[in-house]
Amino acid sequence: MVTQRSNIILTAALLLPLSAHAWWQPTKDLSWQIVLSDTIIPFADVSAIDGDLFGTNASTWSDLKNSGRKAICYFSAGSSENWRPDFNQFAKSDLGSPLDGWPGENWLNTKSDNVRRIMTNRMDMAVKNGCDAIDPDNTDAYDNDNGLNLTTDDAVDYIKFLTSEGHKRGLAVGLKNSGEIVQQVVSDADFQVNEQCVQYKECDDFRPFINANKPVFGIEYVKDTPDQNAIDKICNDESRKDMSTLIKHMDLGRWVIPCPGQIAWTTSATSSNAFSNSSSVSASQTSAASTATPSTGIAAFSLPQLGGVAFALTSLVTVALL
Ligand SMILES: *[C@@H]1O[C@H](CO)[C@@H](O)[C@H](O)[C@H]1NC(C)=O
Ligand SMILES: *[C@@H]1O[C@H](CO)[C@@H](O)[C@H](O)[C@H]1NC(C)=O
Ligand SMILES: *[C@@H]1O[C@H](CO)[C@@H](O)[C@H](O)[C@H]1NC(C)=O
Repeated sequence: MVTQRSNIILTAALLLPLSAHAWWQPTKDLSWQIVLSDTIIPFADVSAIDGDLFGTNASTWSDLKNSGRKAICYFSAGSSENWRPDFNQFAKSDLGSPLDGWPGENWLNTKSDNVRRIMTNRMDMAVKNGCDAIDPDNTDAYDNDNGLNLTTDDAVDYIKFLTSEGHKRGLAVGLKNSGEIVQQVVSDADFQVNEQCVQYKECDDFRPFINANKPVFGIEYVKDTPDQNAIDKICNDESRKDMSTLIKHMDLGRWVIPCPGQIAWTTSATSSNAFSNSSSVSASQTSAASTATPSTGIAAFSLPQLGGVAFALTSLVTVALL
């Protein structure tokens, strides 16, 4: 006997689990590329591409999205950059000390309502451009002479603000570096992006993300073109197990050597040069990346929805039994 009331319960049971995670839930081992100082290549043979929110136009983001890849949009959430179009919206009191070695950038008072409003506007722009995720940088002011007395507690509060506002908008949100606060925010952030955890022996700090089946996107900087020994020294480092490590130049252009084991977008890459715009990717690296299970990336993306459907079906059976 299916009453109208149980129909309503049924509908709710179907809808609730499906909307519980309305944003991308990436899983560990995902392949990626990061390009901040050049135009991104939407059809690179990777599952996710991290590019500059302001430096990439909406049609490039939509090409990326239409190809089924995931767009991660980078912006600095913890520093002002005086060349950004919204820079004049920061109040003078929002700015702390200059960033060491980064001209035109100052630490931001992340407790300021005005700073937070500017960041949610950037998230709205990310949504409009079709970004699946954001990579908010410079959230580790506590580790620097920031001139604003910002602490790790302030950073945790800010990350919880950024993740909750991002999720409200359907965006996955990453944690950039910020190793000291991983335990407090690993359940909020959807992935982690770090620089040089192998080099500085900090990868253990980010292991909780891997344990939660969330990707850790690692960047290891090198000068020039490393030889195979140098590549192996990074890629064979046990501390980065299951992390999606890229060997990159400091300028974060297109040049890249991905460590093996990352789940590539597809085995049928249409271009031999698809992983990057670089010919320096060795044959072994390329095949290691592209012999990964076909379309596992797609499966990973649909798992939350499938989980939702399974939950909904279970609920349906339960309601029917009642
Ligand atoms: C978007 O950027 C790409 C790469 O720089 C460029 O080729 C394309 O013409 C741009 N499209 C628009 C509509 O501005
Ligand atoms: C930071 O703390 C010091 C010492 O308590 C204090 O003198 C200074 O005014 C504080 N600065 C800011 C920006 O709050
Ligand atoms: C990318 O590859 C194309 C084709 O090989 C080449 O013409 C172009 O200069 C490359 N761009 C970069 C930034 O390396």
